[in-house]
This record gives sequence, structure tokens and C-alpha cells, in this order.
Amino acid sequence: MTLHELLSCRVAAALAAAGAPDAAPVVQPSSKPEFGDYQANGVMGAAKALKTNPRELATKVVAALQLDGIASKIEIAGPGFINITLADDFLADTVTRQQADVQLGTGRHAGDKVVIDYSSPNLAKEMHVGHLRSTIIGDALARVLAFRGDQVVRQNHVGDWGTQFGMLTAYLVETEQAGSEALALDDLEGFYRAAKQRFDEDAAFADRARDYVVKLQGGDVRVRALWQRFLEVSLAHCEAVYERLGVQLQRDDVMGESAYNDDLPRVVVDLRAAGLLTEDAGAQVVFLDEFKNKEGEAQAYIIQKQDGGYLYSTSDLAALRYRAGKLGARRLLYVVDARQGLHFQQLFTLGRKAGFIGADVATEHVAFGTMMGEDGKPFKTRSGGTVKLVELLDEAERRAFDLVSEKNPDLAEEKRRSIARAVGIGAVKYADLSKHRTSDYIFDWNTMLSFEGNTAPYLQYAYTRLASIFRAAGSFDHHAKLTLTEPAEHALALQLAQFPDLLAQVAAETCPHFLCAYLYQLATRFSRFYEACPVLKSEGETRASRLALCAAAANTLKTGLGLLGIAVLEEM
Ligand code: ARG
Repeated sequence: MTLHELLSCRVAAALAAAGAPDAAPVVQPSSKPEFGDYQANGVMGAAKALKTNPRELATKVVAALQLDGIASKIEIAGPGFINITLADDFLADTVTRQQADVQLGTGRHAGDKVVIDYSSPNLAKEMHVGHLRSTIIGDALARVLAFRGDQVVRQNHVGDWGTQFGMLTAYLVETEQAGSEALALDDLEGFYRAAKQRFDEDAAFADRARDYVVKLQGGDVRVRALWQRFLEVSLAHCEAVYERLGVQLQRDDVMGESAYNDDLPRVVVDLRAAGLLTEDAGAQVVFLDEFKNKEGEAQAYIIQKQDGGYLYSTSDLAALRYRAGKLGARRLLYVVDARQGLHFQQLFTLGRKAGFIGADVATEHVAFGTMMGEDGKPFKTRSGGTVKLVELLDEAERRAFDLVSEKNPDLAEEKRRSIARAVGIGAVKYADLSKHRTSDYIFDWNTMLSFEGNTAPYLQYAYTRLASIFRAAGSFDHHAKLTLTEPAEHALALQLAQFPDLLAQVAAETCPHFLCAYLYQLATRFSRFYEACPVLKSEGETRASRLALCAAAANTLKTGLGLLGIAVLEEM
């Protein structure tokens, strides 16, 4: 049981014993130290329901509250809050037990099977900053869920189908004939632009491109092979980015739009059989009463175009059914830009109506806001173009290298380069993950690379401080008995003991920024502890206990950053 579970269940039992069996207490970490470690709320509501005085009820609840050996102090505050301070020994034991567990105390139920759809770039072009958020938020969530024991299935729903690919394969043939294919594909962005230009300017080329689309969909062997070759190059570009970002997506996780191609006619047939399809101007559409426009008319969700072509929505319906059915997932997460919100609401609603997924399957659009430039507009290059991810990461490493060189000029260049990689990439990822995912945020090099505040460099630096303590200490017992005497030790241990609850919250709400805030607070509490409590200069059991506390902090910090996909360093 986690701390939160334990306290909630004890407070609920006490409320029941005090005559309020239906009360649902809310137990939360206290916002201020003077409120103890946890504050229980629920007495006021219960007193109202029972028409009794809240303080009187609170007194009864406290009398019935069984926290022997768990709490050292229980107080009633204000109109009926119950403030709980945990006992030092109990906290010490909790931390010790947690540190002995590879899952740091988070282990729980035989995990759910969860599908996480993330990254999912369009393969027609190179990955650009618009793909950054999905890629790193999705990856952090996948790691957190897997760490907690969920069976995570990653799905990279790449855009690898549709008219653009007719154009691209047609252009591939042309460049191949001109003998410049390899060179051209090196710069996918440029390749796309050139193909588009040919398409717009040359009617014969455009016809060829359209013919290729038909051939592609009809399964023409030669065109399919060309298309495959193009995808291969494009995916290799993505993988290079994943590798640099430390993102866990593999080739096996790719399940693109094209994978559902054969199933699309069936989607249409099944929707029709369910009585959901309507013909509208030759297209097959679904009108869902749940989604009305300003005029109060049901909005059309297009499933098949007039010319018989399928859409993004069609393959997403097939994917929805596949994930719940074939993969047997009970939770489907889609880490996709907030601007696709309506699409997903329609998809989920329709999927349920059509019986593609059952009531026992949860669907969640894990939406995120836009990454903005310093001018407050969507992030662009100086000339207004899209910023390639590769270029962004190059700049991150370059800036981090300058910073590291300034701070630590005596380190060998090689060493500074590898530190710069971890710091630069870590900073970009952390800056994104630490913001509430639904808000837009301003991408700002200076803040993200700062060694102060809620940043990756600050946390990585805190870890190096711990590492240097361990180097100075020589060998010691990482699991020595903890004795907490100082308030700063208590505060740090409390923070450590809350790790499982924090991860539960991240998993339930799919919000990595909670983990960032947690780690920042952990680092801050460690600093305070380190200022207030001598570690290396203390002696005997105190020294052993404080070193073990440092080890627990280091382990939790490293694990937490690891769950965000951010590397730690021994020195920087
Ligand atoms: N390829 C899409 C895009 O770039 C994102 C796909 C998200 N996943 C999904 N199942 N629709 O916008």
C-alpha cells in the first residue's frame, strides 16, 4: 500500500467509526509544514450531511483514527481539517523498504494492457518540431506506465499512406533516372518540396503521381516497392532522431496508416450494418448528435470520400478496433496535438456506438498544446519555415557544449561533448515535460539551459553532487538503517516515500509535469538537507544513516529522470 492509500483508508475507517460511513475523505500532502505532512479533508462535508458540528465530529474521528506507529502527531485545524505528521521511524522504514524494491514501492496489480499511440509522424516529410511533444510526452508516459507494471504496447501510427506518397514515389523515379536519388533523399524536406513543385508545375507529372496513388492502393508491385524504399529512408531519419532523443520507439512499434488499408472496406461495411452511415453529396459520413455545430446541426464525420478514397478517420477507426480487439488493450492513449481534439472525440464516440470497443475499454486523447517561439507564435525558423528536429537538437548540444566548456574548461573535450549531449537533449525534453501538457509553451533556450530552477541541468547537477558525495565517502552501506532526527531529514524522507503515489498520479492523469515538479522538490529538499545536516563530517550511525538517505535520494532522482527519458551524469 502506498502512503496515500494507507492514510485514506485509515481516515475513512475513522470516519465510519465516528458515525459517517459514507464520507469520502480526501487525504493530501499538506501545502505548508505547519499543517503536518498530510491533511485530511472530509469531516466538514460529513458533518454537514449528519447535521452535526464539524469540530465535534473531527474530535471523534481523531479519537477513532488508528495510526499507531504511523503518525507522531494528529491535530485538528480550522473548521475540521485533520493534520497528520508521520512518525520518523515509520518514514524511515517506508523509505528503506522502498529502496529494497526494484519498482521503488510502486508495484501493484497485474497491470493493464495499455496502448500508447505516440510520435506518429507523417513520413512524407522529415520530423520537425511539431513532432517533438508527442514523441517525448508519449515516451515518458510509456516508461512510467511500464515501470508501474502495466503491459505497454507502443504504436507509432505513422502517416505512410495517401496521395502524397503517389507524388513522392513518382518523383523518386524521376530522380533515380537522373541518377541523384540517394542525394535527394538525404534531405527529405527538400525532396518533398521539389516533388510538390513538380506536381504543381507539370501536369504530366501530376497525372503520373495520381496514377501512382491508384497503383499503390491497388497493390502494384513496382510502385509498392518504390514506396517501401521511400518509407525505409524516412523511417531511418525518424530512428536517428529517436536515438538521439533517447526515445524507446522501435521498428516493431511502427503500425502506420497503411497497415489498416485492407481493413478499411470492412469498417465501412460494419458502420453501414450498424445503421450509422449516411450518404452526403456522394460521400459516406456519420452524423453524431453529440457533435453539433453553431447552428445546432449534427456535424459530419467523413468516412469515405465521394471518389471512394478513405481518410484519416477511417484508418483510425480500424486502428481503434485493432487495439481493443486484436491487441486486447483496456486503455487506449493517443498522444496527439490538442488541435485534433474533435477528431478524437468523434472517433471514440463513433467507435463505441459501432461496437468497435466495449464499455470496459478506456479511450483518452492525451492532448498537448503548441510549442511557441520567443515571439509567442508557433515555433518557426527565422525565415518562417518549419524547424527540423535534427537541427533543433544540434543547436541544443552546441549551446550545452558552450555552457559546459565555460563551467568546466579543464575537462577533456570528449568528456565535455558527452556531457553536452546529456544536458542539451535533457534540457529540451525536460522543458517540454515540465509544462502542463495542455498549455502552449514558449521554447526558450536560456531558461531551459539554466542551472537554476525547474530545469534538467539543475536536476542533473543535483545528481552529480550526490555522486561526488559517494566518491568522497568511499564504500558504504546503501541500505543502512535510517534514523531521522532533523526536520530536513524528515522532509527529504517524506518526499522519497511519496514517489509511488506521485507515479500513480502521473499514470492516472497522463501528466509528466507532476513527475518533474516532484523531482524538482526532491532536489530542493536534498539541498536543504545537505546544508542543514553534515554527511561526510558526521560519524558512526548518523553518518551511515545520512549516506543511506543520500543513496535513496540519488536512486529516486535517477529513476525519476530515467522515467522521463533523461540521462544522469556522474560529473558535469
Ligand atoms: N500522423 C498524424 C499527424 O502527424 C498523427 C497521428 C496520431 N495518431 C492517430 N492514431 N491518429 O498529425
